[in-house]
Amino acid sequence: MGVAMSMYDANWPPRPKWSVDNIPDLSRKVIIVTGGNSGMGKETVTALLSKNAKVYIASHNQARVDAAVGELEKATGHRALFLKLNLTSLSSVKAAAQAFQKLESKLDVLINNAGVMLPNPKALTVEGYDLQFGLNVVGPYYFTRLLLPQLMAAGSARIVNLSSHGHIFIERIKWDTIRDGPERQKTKPLDLYNQSKFANVVVACEFARRYGDKGIVSTSVHPGLITSTNMGRTMSPHSLEAIELLIVQFNARSIDSALRCNFSGDSRC
Ligand SMILES: NC(=O)c1ccc[n+]([C@@H]2O[C@H](COP(=O)([O-])OP(=O)(O)OC[C@H]3O[C@@H](n4cnc5c(N)ncnc54)[C@H](OP(=O)(O)O)[C@@H]3O)[C@@H](O)[C@H]2O)c1
Repeated sequence: MGVAMSMYDANWPPRPKWSVDNIPDLSRKVIIVTGGNSGMGKETVTALLSKNAKVYIASHNQARVDAAVGELEKATGHRALFLKLNLTSLSSVKAAAQAFQKLESKLDVLINNAGVMLPNPKALTVEGYDLQFGLNVVGPYYFTRLLLPQLMAAGSARIVNLSSHGHIFIERIKWDTIRDGPERQKTKPLDLYNQSKFANVVVACEFARRYGDKGIVSTSVHPGLITSTNMGRTMSPHSLEAIELLIVQFNARSIDSALRCNFSGDSRC
């Protein structure tokens, strides 16, 4: 019953009580949005730039980020900055954190948005993790850990992890599927995606438990269901059709949930 209700809510969310217009002026706020060149991340960056934040788009493909930066500047009159970050390589994650630390002494908000869904099932990260778990969980976890000094230096900082409705189908992390092997190979790719999104919730809770008394609010959010992002790019046509059948409506309200977790002052997000 709980799962059915949750499916219903995900497809027909209630009318929002909060919108981008409610975000205060963000001058002097430094914000990183991973994967901010596309989909949900790009919409998030649009809202943040329009409120005068200094925004870094941390992503892996400079050409795609440059194109997005140009479009965002036209739309908002503000220019986002590029931070090279490949979440499938822990050395790239470390280099990104170090590059940021040379540029800024504090980080007010970290939005761990970048993610992948149903890529080639054989794909692994550089360190040999299942690609969905490595890119969606291990990379963002390491990036967040490395940026803790700058988050604490902000005095009052927020970390938002983009999870998914799919986390409700998972009860625990199966550690023998994280790296390649027989258990991973017999697990359905959608279960591995849902497991990665469940882990986003677990990691967000753990950061809240460890650093909540140090001025950090760590949250996770299901952003809503939107078929018009680039998430389908890595999926086979068959998987994409199946996912689209599950997603009943285009939900323009979705991105508000990630922003609300940052700027509404609602600590329950
Ligand atoms: N769309 C939905 O209905 C939905 C529902 C629930 C949760 N979510 C979550 O929302 C988040 C955003 O999804 P989206 O739908 O907006 O997808 P999207 O349009 O595909 O955006 C994903 C972003 O991640 C970046 N990225 C991919 N691989 C990367 C890597 N190795 N290193 C760094 N960045 C990388 C992509 O860059 P490139 O474009 O250059 O590859 C892109 O900017 C994801 O965490 C997803 O799980 C989405």
